[in-house]
Amino acid sequence: MAKVEDQQGNAAKPGGPIASAAGSQSHAALARKYRPKLFSELIGQDAMVQTLRNAFASGRIAQAYMLTGVRGVGKTTTARLIARALNYVPPGGGDGAPTLDMGEEGEHCRAILESRHLDVVEMDAASHTGIDDVRDLIDSAHYKPNTARYKVYIIDEVHMLSKQAFNGLLKTLEEPPEHVKFIFATTEARKVPVTVLSRCQRFDLKRIEVEPLALQLASIVAQEGAEAEPAALMMIARAAEGSVRDALSILDRAIAFGSGKVTAEAVRGLLGLADRGRIFDLLETVLAGDPGNALKQLASLTNDGAARRPSPRQEEGAAAWPARRGALRGARSDRHVRGLRQYRCGQPMHAVPRRETRPLTDLRGGGGGRSLGA
Ligand SMILES: Nc1ncnc2c1ncn2[C@@H]1O[C@H](COP(=O)(O)OP(=O)(O)O)[C@@H](O)[C@H]1O
Ligand SMILES: [Mg+2]
Repeated sequence: MAKVEDQQGNAAKPGGPIASAAGSQSHAALARKYRPKLFSELIGQDAMVQTLRNAFASGRIAQAYMLTGVRGVGKTTTARLIARALNYVPPGGGDGAPTLDMGEEGEHCRAILESRHLDVVEMDAASHTGIDDVRDLIDSAHYKPNTARYKVYIIDEVHMLSKQAFNGLLKTLEEPPEHVKFIFATTEARKVPVTVLSRCQRFDLKRIEVEPLALQLASIVAQEGAEAEPAALMMIARAAEGSVRDALSILDRAIAFGSGKVTAEAVRGLLGLADRGRIFDLLETVLAGDPGNALKQLASLTNDGAARRPSPRQEEGAAAWPARRGALRGARSDRHVRGLRQYRCGQPMHAVPRRETRPLTDLRGGGGGRSLGA
């Protein structure tokens, strides 16, 4: 899994083979290195943490949790933290009780965080989809935990389980032994049967907002002994679309690329088309009625390799025209409309001579609409 991500990262990066190799290597390290070890280090998921804290404090711990959210927002991290909280025993022994306040590293903490504890079983449903995998797991659930308080089963990407596997799981989920807890994580909750969902306490992990994400990056940059321009970090945070893992992976490449100095210019180059925020900027400029800047932004996207092809629906032709003409009628100036025409023709902004574009009145007059690039 991690390998695929690295390969994709390399392929998308214009930094050359040497920078690519360095980037992919440290990418894995950086995301793993800064995996939160405490709930207080988890950013952007305050509502979930507060709910869990109250539940644990009052002893209302669910039998099964369902963590949903897009990639890289902390599902696996939270699952491990819950497993650790359930089995928290302060150092030096004693009974203790499940708690979210794990100031000191307890007896089982390290093993759980490194996912090598015997009583905390992690299963990746993406590669173990069948009933046999689930049956093994359920069979072992009947035995008491070896050393910990609870046997915790973490099933990642749970939506990938087969129908049979879900059915197999359901029975145990209905009446789980006292010592068993389930934690499921998924990026696609709607693919999980309602019968399973209804037996879990569900938390929807949020995308992390740009500012807290940029602050997190700044703190990691400082811990790494690197330097970064605030604008560069904001750009990374924006491009990551709320995923901390994505942000860390970009940061990783930026640090490798600039040998420890992350500048806005380098990040812009690194991101290239991956910065989807640029599309929204373009849309905003168009909606604000600023054709000059819109065309500049479009040209810059084109320079970076964006393909300006009409969509299949547009290629089909006639069906799309009424809507298109409607949009153009609202356009503010001849220049603006010429720009759109040229865009439609798939030509560079300066390539279509003025005489080849019909007067605006053609469009507005009703009959001339078809002339648009047809
Ligand atoms: N909410 C968060 N707060 C801080 N770091 C996070 C958060 N979410 C993800 N990360 C970072 O991203 C990495 C991957 O997170 P993970 O929990 O595996 O994401 P996923 O939601 O895909 O399971 C972590 O190791 C950590 O460095
Ligand atoms: Mg995960």
